[in-house]
Amino acid sequence: MNYKDKMLRDDALKGKTIVVTGGGSGLGKAMSTYFLELGANVVITSRNLEKLKTTAEELEKQTGGNCLPLKCDVRHYDQVEGMLNATLERFGKVDVLLNNAAGNFISPTERLSANAFDTIIDIVLKGTKNCTLAFGKHWIDTKQSNTNVLNIVTTYAWTGSAYVVPSATAKAGVLAMTRSLAVEWAKYGMRFNAIAPGPFPTKGAWDRLLPGNLKDKFDMAKKVPLNRVGDHQELANLAAYLVSDFSAYVNGEVITIDGGEWLKGAGQFNILEQIPESMWDQLEAAIREKKNK
Ligand code: HXC
Ligand code: NAP
Repeated sequence: MNYKDKMLRDDALKGKTIVVTGGGSGLGKAMSTYFLELGANVVITSRNLEKLKTTAEELEKQTGGNCLPLKCDVRHYDQVEGMLNATLERFGKVDVLLNNAAGNFISPTERLSANAFDTIIDIVLKGTKNCTLAFGKHWIDTKQSNTNVLNIVTTYAWTGSAYVVPSATAKAGVLAMTRSLAVEWAKYGMRFNAIAPGPFPTKGAWDRLLPGNLKDKFDMAKKVPLNRVGDHQELANLAAYLVSDFSAYVNGEVITIDGGEWLKGAGQFNILEQIPESMWDQLEAAIREKKNK
C-alpha cells in the first residue's frame, strides 16, 4: 500500500448527495471523482458550465456514478439558492457541502486595486458564506440532520502570508466561520470541518501562484520536510473521511495535510538542518566545554 491508494471502503458514501463548489477542475475534481467512486451523488458547480459538463461526463464514464454539473457563481446568493434548488430537484436531498471554490493570485498588496482585493474576498469568504448560509438554512428548515460542511482553507489562514494577502484574509475568515458554526449549529445535526492543504500542484493554482519561470525558480517540494508535493488522492482520501459518517465525532477541526511545510517555516532553529551530520560532534564538544566556565 502507498499514499496514492484509495482509503475508504467502496460504499462509504453511498446514499449521500454532495455539492462540490469549484468541482470542475483541480482538487475539486479529484475529490469529486473519489466521492463518486465511493457511491455518492455529486453536484459540481462553478462559473463555467461547458467545463463542468465535460468533467461530469468524464467522471460519470470513469466511475459509473451520478454527477450533475450546475453553473453557479458563489459570489451571488440568488445563484447559490438556484443551485441548491436544482440539486434538490435532481436528487431529492443534499447531505454535504464542500466549499472548495477559490480565487487567488500573487501580487504586492500595494499594486492591488480595491476591486482586485474585493474579488478574492468575494469568491473565497463571501462565496463560502453564501453557500453555507443557504445550505444551513435549508437543513434547519427541513429538520435534516447528519449533514456536514467541509471548507478548504490553507495553512496561511493562521500564519498569514505576504503577497497573497486577500486570500490569507479570506481564508482566515473561513476558518473562523468553520469553528464558530461547528458549535452554534451542532444542535441541528451539522458538522463543520476544514482541510488546510500544503502544495498540491493544479493548473489553476500554479498558473496564478507560480507564473512564468517561477515554477523553475521556486521548487515547492523543497519547502516540505517530506521533500515532495501532495498527491491529489491523498487529499481526496482525507476529504472523503471527513464528509463520511466515519468522522461523525470530528467537529470544528482543521486538518493540515502539508508534509510539515508550515511548521518547517515556523520553527526558529529549523534552519539547523543545513548543518552536516559530521559537524555535530564538534558542536556538542563546544557546548559541553562551556558548561562550567
Ligand atoms: C493584480 C489583478 C490580477 C493580477 C486580476 N486582477 N488579476 N490585479 N494582479 N494578477 C484584478 C483585475 O484587474 C480586476 O480589478 C480584479 O482583479 C478582478 O479581475 P477579473 O479578471 O475581472 O475577475 P474575475 O474574472 O472574477 O476572475 C477572478 C480571478 C481569476 C481571481 C482574478 O484569477 C480567477 O478566475 N480565478 C479562479 C481560479 C483560481 O484563482 N484558482 C487558484 C486557487 S489557488 P480592476 O480594478 O482592474 O477591475 C489557491 C491556493 C492557495 O487558493 C494556497 C497554495 C499553496
Ligand atoms: P482551481 O482548479 O483553480 O480551483 C478553483 C475552482 O474554483 C475552479 O474550479 C473555479 O472554476 C472555481 N471558482 C472560482 N471562482 C468561482 C466563483 N466565483 N464561483 C464558483 N466557482 C468559482 O485550483 P485548486 O488548486 O484546485 O484549488 C482548490 C481549492 O484548494 C481552493 O480552495 C484553494 O484555495 C485550495 N488550496 C489549493 C492548494 C494547492 O496547492 N493547489 C493549496 C491550498 C489550498 P471556474 O473558473 O469554472 O469558476
